[in-house]
Amino acid sequence: MLRTHNCGEIRIENLNEKVTLSGWVQKSRDLGGLTFVDLRDRYGITQLTFNMDENADLCKQARGLGREFVIQVIGIVIERSSKNKNIPTGEIEILVDKLHVLNSSKTPPFTIEDETDGGEELRMKYRYLDLRRKPVQQGLFLRHKLAKEVRNYLDSKDFIEVETPVLIKSTPEGARDFVVPSRMNAGQFYALPQSPQTFKQLLMVGGFDRYFQLVKCFRDEDLRADRQPEFTQIDCEMAFVEQEDILSTFEQMMRHLFKAVLDVKLNEFPRMDYADAMRLYGSDKPDIRFGMPFVELNDVTQNKGFQIFDDAELVLGICAKGAAEYTRKQLDALTDYVKRPQVGAIGLVYAKMNEDGSIKSSVDKFYTQEDLTVWAEKMGAEKGDLILIISGDKHKSRSAMSELRLHLGSQLGLRSKNKFAPLWVTDFPLLEWDEETKRFHAMHHPFTSPKTEDLGLIETEPGKVRANAYDMVINGVEVGGGSIRIHNKELQNKMLSLLGFSQEEARAQFGFLMDAFEYGAPPHGGIALGFDRMCSLFGGSDSIRDYIAFPKNNSGRDVMIDAPAPIAKEQLVELGLEVKIQS
Ligand code: AMO
Repeated sequence: MLRTHNCGEIRIENLNEKVTLSGWVQKSRDLGGLTFVDLRDRYGITQLTFNMDENADLCKQARGLGREFVIQVIGIVIERSSKNKNIPTGEIEILVDKLHVLNSSKTPPFTIEDETDGGEELRMKYRYLDLRRKPVQQGLFLRHKLAKEVRNYLDSKDFIEVETPVLIKSTPEGARDFVVPSRMNAGQFYALPQSPQTFKQLLMVGGFDRYFQLVKCFRDEDLRADRQPEFTQIDCEMAFVEQEDILSTFEQMMRHLFKAVLDVKLNEFPRMDYADAMRLYGSDKPDIRFGMPFVELNDVTQNKGFQIFDDAELVLGICAKGAAEYTRKQLDALTDYVKRPQVGAIGLVYAKMNEDGSIKSSVDKFYTQEDLTVWAEKMGAEKGDLILIISGDKHKSRSAMSELRLHLGSQLGLRSKNKFAPLWVTDFPLLEWDEETKRFHAMHHPFTSPKTEDLGLIETEPGKVRANAYDMVINGVEVGGGSIRIHNKELQNKMLSLLGFSQEEARAQFGFLMDAFEYGAPPHGGIALGFDRMCSLFGGSDSIRDYIAFPKNNSGRDVMIDAPAPIAKEQLVELGLEVKIQS
């Protein structure tokens, strides 16, 4: 070993010990007679001292050390004269006797400190330097700890980790596939898994009973802070279970993880069905750290001469507690916010509940104080509260109001990162109508089973059929989703035909699954939790990139290795993607 101790562990108890340390030079200070160097590794920082009077050559050598040089030192632990209470090693320093430069370093393009001067793009290009920074390392330590706890927990519940293949055929999860050309089968392609969905179902047919895998999934979709083209799922499946068993197993797992990793005790997860989530919060992943549910106001706002409300399919209000003091400027800013194309509302109406009992609204021309009092009663608004109203098309108003609610929640400080509000959203619709293609799509995936009580609607009103599908939502983040699967060939066939697959297409794409269903497939179901999203939730950062060692940017590029990149013509020819032109 090139060290006896790491840079974070020496304390006053080690006084006078001879130690060997190795690490990176964080910074050095030359004070004439003394030179101080901060030596850093993954474990911390230890101060090194070089004394001009005791060893002038060594001191000169130390002065030549640049930032990020890799060095080894041998020296004696001494007590510091001016102690640093901010770091665990702050009471001691090493009086250096021998110094070996193990490697030099160019000056790094940004400072390797907690607060760096490097922008995102630069840090990603030099990610190996960024990885030396404490906050980045802490993100990955958290990820490791979570993964370890997940494995231990699932192992203790008899789950077996099984690896499934990466070079496969398309698995429909709603995104585009990444494809890999096959050299040995010219003109043919593998698809990378969007999830191991079909394989985990086949493992249930194979009798594994309880499976899990921390697995890379690949989806070619538009990227955001919580989406990467390759990401990791905690993918799970269980046989001989009903929805309740899955919900209880994974709720317990999540509560265990919060306790073990953050020492946070979560209460039982409330349940909300999809219809209520949409009606009350305009979202299938409501952030219930705060209230502010939607109230439908059509009956008390229409037919009073205000054309915009009269023409609206839905008039929707929320009540922001204590926000009546919002100024004109702040209200204008909220109006601008909801009118942005990404939010898409036509406008915003407000009513302020003044302390003197009067109500001031932006539509005073059309509504009397009595009218406004009725609104307030319906909204449960009290003195000091602010009512905000959006109207128009049902779907658009709900989605715009959902954005406004979250925006206000943030503004009013109701979305603390240290508060955790989980819930299960259940009873998702089985199918979703797509206007563009004029056909139904599976809302979850084509292997999700319909609710038995809704089976009668499958021919007549397929859009109304609910699924045995559920999402785990925490703080407005969809952490995971799953379903009870179809395990019957006829029903699976029917589902595929509802989704517009011809017999031949279904056979070509999912024949293997249909065949498996003919050999005693047990009832089964499962869930997949987005592991990167879980890390960011536990760690308190909005971006999952902070928990991925080598993430891609928003255009799906790895700017460090410069991928994706063109490939050589010979390789294209070899893959059968380009014809060789004879010279
Ligand atoms: P689903 O598609 O809901 O279900 O994915 C499960 C969870 O994976 C996470 N996730 C992502 N995380 C980061 N980047 C992405 N691009 C990304 N896409 C999804 C989310 C999501 O909740 N096979 C089913 C699961 C099942 O039915 O058992 C599936 O993949 O947190």
